[in-house]
Amino acid sequence: MAGYPRFREYLILLMKILAIETSCDETAAAIIEDGHKVISSVIASQADIHAITGGVVPEVAAREHSINLPYIYKQAIEESGLNISEIDAFAVTTTPGLIGSLLVGISAAKTLSEIYRKPLIETNHIEGHIYSTFLERKPEEICFPLLTLTVSGGHTQLYIIKGHKEKVLLGQTLDDAAGEAYDKIAKMLGLPYPGGPELAKAALDGDPQKFDLPVARLDNQFDFSFSGLKTAVLYLIRDLTSSDRDLTPEERADIAASAQRVINKALIKNILLATQKYEVKQVHVVGGVSANKELKSNLADALSKKDIPLLTPIKGIYSTDNAAMIGSAAYFAFTKV
Ligand code: KG4
Ligand code: ZN
Repeated sequence: MAGYPRFREYLILLMKILAIETSCDETAAAIIEDGHKVISSVIASQADIHAITGGVVPEVAAREHSINLPYIYKQAIEESGLNISEIDAFAVTTTPGLIGSLLVGISAAKTLSEIYRKPLIETNHIEGHIYSTFLERKPEEICFPLLTLTVSGGHTQLYIIKGHKEKVLLGQTLDDAAGEAYDKIAKMLGLPYPGGPELAKAALDGDPQKFDLPVARLDNQFDFSFSGLKTAVLYLIRDLTSSDRDLTPEERADIAASAQRVINKALIKNILLATQKYEVKQVHVVGGVSANKELKSNLADALSKKDIPLLTPIKGIYSTDNAAMIGSAAYFAFTKV
């Protein structure tokens, strides 16, 4: 009996999880060891397909997942050099996401768990993003308490995280997610899908101070709102093109730069407020928008004055949707009591 807990600890230390993510438009599978080490990670993006329609069509996304997942899963095993019998558990994103897309991953993971008689760890997608900063970092590089902003096309939430089982939501968006604002404003400017990186590229040639766009003031100082900004950009474009002409490339770049500045300013403002109210050792920014260079450099500058390090996912592929982060979140949910 006395040796049993140590044996279990040993198992947990070498635990290999095969994770599947199909919540939106990326079909992904990965194998993670100890919640940090990425043994393999394969991602098939459907961005080209959804670019044709200017956004994700749920029915199309689900179909693509069912076509791609068997290959992606096999590739993740092959690239790991492991035998499937060496996998200790399976993990899958169960919520939030597009229901048809989620079901493809859930059905596959449940089948694998039944066939190989290994546990299935059901994982929340946002929880997955939170753990994307743990990937390929040593455990001692992560210091609690920390503040995490999850910022992508589907969510914008600010958490104070005191430990693996102690996550408190401080604020969230009351309407659009920040990535959604990036995507919708990019679409208004005639930029291709996905709009966030395209808007950031267009902003490089623009003047961020050119247009005075609004930032919402809210009752809860940690909440966000981007719908007013979106409407303001719509009216601005309407006014500029009222004499039946297109936006000039210069105007397009100036609107992109001004919108980027305002979205990022709102995100940074709430993070800084939270660091005043709570003592945190690190700030983490995760999700697709964490790939935004202007956001990272402005936030890192502001935090360096307070001696607080900023951690973003170590690779760009861990900012956007991936299965490695799901494997990491699953590991910590399974092993930390
Ligand atoms: O995390 P993610 O892949 O999917 C969701 O869970 O939503 O995030 C995708 C979002 C999209 O809205 C995309 O436009 C945005 O992240 N994004 C960016 C950048 N790269 C991706 N937004 C701003 N700047 C970027 N460089
Ligand atoms: Zn996501």
